Amino acid sequence: MNKLIASGLYKSYQSGGHTSEVLSGVSITISEGQIIGVIGSSGSGKTTLLQILAGLEFPDQGSIYFNEINLLINNSENFNLMRKNLFGFAYQFHYLLDDLTVFENCDLVFKIANNKKVVENSQKIIQILDELGIAELKNKYPYMLSGGERQRVAIARAIVHEPKFVLMDEPTGNLDQENAEVIQNLTIKLAKDHNIGIVVATHDLNYAGKLDTVFRIENGDLKPT
Ligand SMILES: Nc1ncnc2c1ncn2[C@@H]1O[C@H](COP(=O)(O)OP(=O)(O)OP(=O)(O)O)[C@@H](O)[C@H]1O
Ligand SMILES: [Mg+2]
Repeated sequence: MNKLIASGLYKSYQSGGHTSEVLSGVSITISEGQIIGVIGSSGSGKTTLLQILAGLEFPDQGSIYFNEINLLINNSENFNLMRKNLFGFAYQFHYLLDDLTVFENCDLVFKIANNKKVVENSQKIIQILDELGIAELKNKYPYMLSGGERQRVAIARAIVHEPKFVLMDEPTGNLDQENAEVIQNLTIKLAKDHNIGIVVATHDLNYAGKLDTVFRIENGDLKPT
């Protein structure tokens, strides 16, 4: 079974002449098909942890392995591509590009990876949009969509390239209860149907209650709940 194993992660930021330690030796293992919640107050380090796990930021210390492969030591082009293909990221403020349609926002992932299998990629995008119930929105622009629809597009974009792990930062953050429940259930189903390991940062305790495992991040470390 594929696993992402992070051990002893430390991360500090300097600001205004002093250093604040956000992560103080965090360790976490994510298996494929598993969905893990991370809760914690604002500023506790949820986004920082997710970005480090996805390789979007680097820790000051610690290791991140995909099975036997150390993800923090090699920076060759091939290796970076492998790392890119391994992860999907759904951002806290979804960051869809306003000039691109829903379909094009998803296709961007393939363009960035220089993947030219146009027919296959387009089938994958339509299939995922369909699974998320938004296939009919494929030619619309983000400004034409509701918050819940945009959030689903952001999730589609995070998974169209079939990553093994997806990091989701507050996917239900700005939604009403009804839309939040749709996203909660969709993400849980995605983990199971596609065998993806998901880490979701959330303030939504209703969501956390439905997840396999939940940690609270507090004083720079993860504690079981
Ligand atoms: N690039 C940065 N430079 C300096 N400080 C940073 C940077 N990124 C994050 N921080 C600080 O690190 C701490 C953790 O931030 P982070 O965004 O990880 O919190 P969070 O748990 O995601 O909060 P929220 O629930 O509000 O999204 C905060 O105190 C924040 O100000
Ligand atoms: Mg955050």
